Amino acid sequence: MSNHDLAIVILAAGKGTRLKSSLAKVLHCAGGRTLIEHVVRACAPLGAKQTVVVVGHQAEQVAPAVAPFGAETVLQQPQHGTGHALQIARRALGRAKLVVVLPGDAPLVRTETLKALIAAHRAGDAAATILTAVLADPSGYGRILRKSETTVAAIVEESQLTPDQRELNEINSAIYCFTLDKLWPALARVKPNNKHRELYLTDTIAAMTAKNETVLAEVAPDAREVLGCNTRADLAEVDRIFRERKRAAMMDAGVTIQLPETVLIDPEVTAGEDTVIEAGVQLLGKTKIGARCTIRSGSVLTDALLGDAVTVEPHCVVARSRLDDHVIIGPFARLRPDNHLKAGARIGNFVELKKSTIGEGTKAMHLTYLGDTKIGARSNIGAGTITCNYDGFHKFPTSIGNKVFVGSDSTLVAPLRIGDGAYIGAGSTITDNVPADALAIARGRQANKPGWASKSAENWPQLRIQRRRSGQERNQKPAGRPKNTSKLFVQKSRVKTPFLRPSPAACQKRSPPQTLNTTAADAIVRGT
Ligand code: UD1
Ligand code: MG
Repeated sequence: MSNHDLAIVILAAGKGTRLKSSLAKVLHCAGGRTLIEHVVRACAPLGAKQTVVVVGHQAEQVAPAVAPFGAETVLQQPQHGTGHALQIARRALGRAKLVVVLPGDAPLVRTETLKALIAAHRAGDAAATILTAVLADPSGYGRILRKSETTVAAIVEESQLTPDQRELNEINSAIYCFTLDKLWPALARVKPNNKHRELYLTDTIAAMTAKNETVLAEVAPDAREVLGCNTRADLAEVDRIFRERKRAAMMDAGVTIQLPETVLIDPEVTAGEDTVIEAGVQLLGKTKIGARCTIRSGSVLTDALLGDAVTVEPHCVVARSRLDDHVIIGPFARLRPDNHLKAGARIGNFVELKKSTIGEGTKAMHLTYLGDTKIGARSNIGAGTITCNYDGFHKFPTSIGNKVFVGSDSTLVAPLRIGDGAYIGAGSTITDNVPADALAIARGRQANKPGWASKSAENWPQLRIQRRRSGQERNQKPAGRPKNTSKLFVQKSRVKTPFLRPSPAACQKRSPPQTLNTTAADAIVRGT
């Protein structure tokens, strides 16, 4: 169908008083997009010469929302009704012969339905063709007054219905196709005869039939397509329908969705065959998921890019990150933006990543923060490892090579480079680069003091009592009754007992420094 003579006008100047919002109605979201974006997108494939959006309330926000789709905007200020909005748009329509008019607040309409409307209008050589729907509950909508089985006499707004007309359940969707040289004279005859003193576009229908022009009705195949969003409840219902449509499309494409009504998927999300999405998952933005992935309960993915066979365990949060094939994350992992997890990488529970690259097969399984970090392949990051990437002013990078073993509870103070095959002793605070193949340990040495406890108990009655109670001195000769167990005494003895606060020199004397052999190194770096 060639539509070189067609223009589109979308009415989006109203405030949307019934929403009780500081945001213009058409900028509210349903189904992951603003209402106006849904409408503009539905019109785009019609190939009209012009698409004109009438803006008014918050025009400066509405105009940029439609600009990316090549729509032109005209300003209606103040807003004197839908008929007035058409008059404002007139000049922008150029030489078009037909116009499709849509409200900016009815976002569920499909392109196919609009094509059918235009085709019916052309075929019937009509002055106007109205997209109508039959609703069980027509309240809130203008009603269609039929002239015959195929033609329409008038549209009556809800506020002007007579008691008999309240029974009518065919409603006006506010989506019409008009022949422009029939519309303008009819609109000129319309008067603002209503309580808002507005020019209603709906009144042009009666004005046309009064001049024996043909007005047709095209009944929408699915009545839900024409739902308008005047209230928060309307918004929720429209959102529900969009989400349902999207889930149905995903299931048709071979995706399993458990408890579908609990899963929220934005319109641009895709997923490959045999991917399983569990209950309570949200897939948002431009998230793309490969085949055979599993996204488990409670996970929220925004703008994530997943390869094939990726597993996202329960309750993960992923933002703008790429996960290659066979990656496993979670449960309870948080990926802030700009991470790349290469094939087979594993990120475990309570691990947070930011701007980090995790190499093939590398693991960080527990309680870890990696920020501004690049890690090579097959490295192991022990539990509790933290990259200190921020000095309060600037962010600094950490680079970790291939097959590096970072022992548990290590603190890596950036900027820092750790070479291939290096080992970091558990509990280390690493501030200097570590060459490839080296072992780095940076922590206080352990001092064992043989017999410390029993020796201390001889001079420390409180400790003696405690050890007896816990059975540690059961086989020893019962100690005499402690002479003084007063709080004061205990406090004094704490200060006096040399073993409680040994000087570094004393430690050196009592326990010779450890020598590092292979077994000791093993123990030092023991990570997860
Ligand atoms: C309108 C129709 C009603 C129909 C219903 C379907 C009229 C008078 N009534 O009622 O028959 O059943 O839609 O949803 O048309 N707008 C402007 N400028 C204005 C006034 C409105 O651009 O001066 C825009 C609004 O931003 C909105 C659209 O026109 O996008 C429709 O206006 P709205 O107030 O929602 O009309 P309804 O009461 O829903
Ligand atoms: Mg409305």
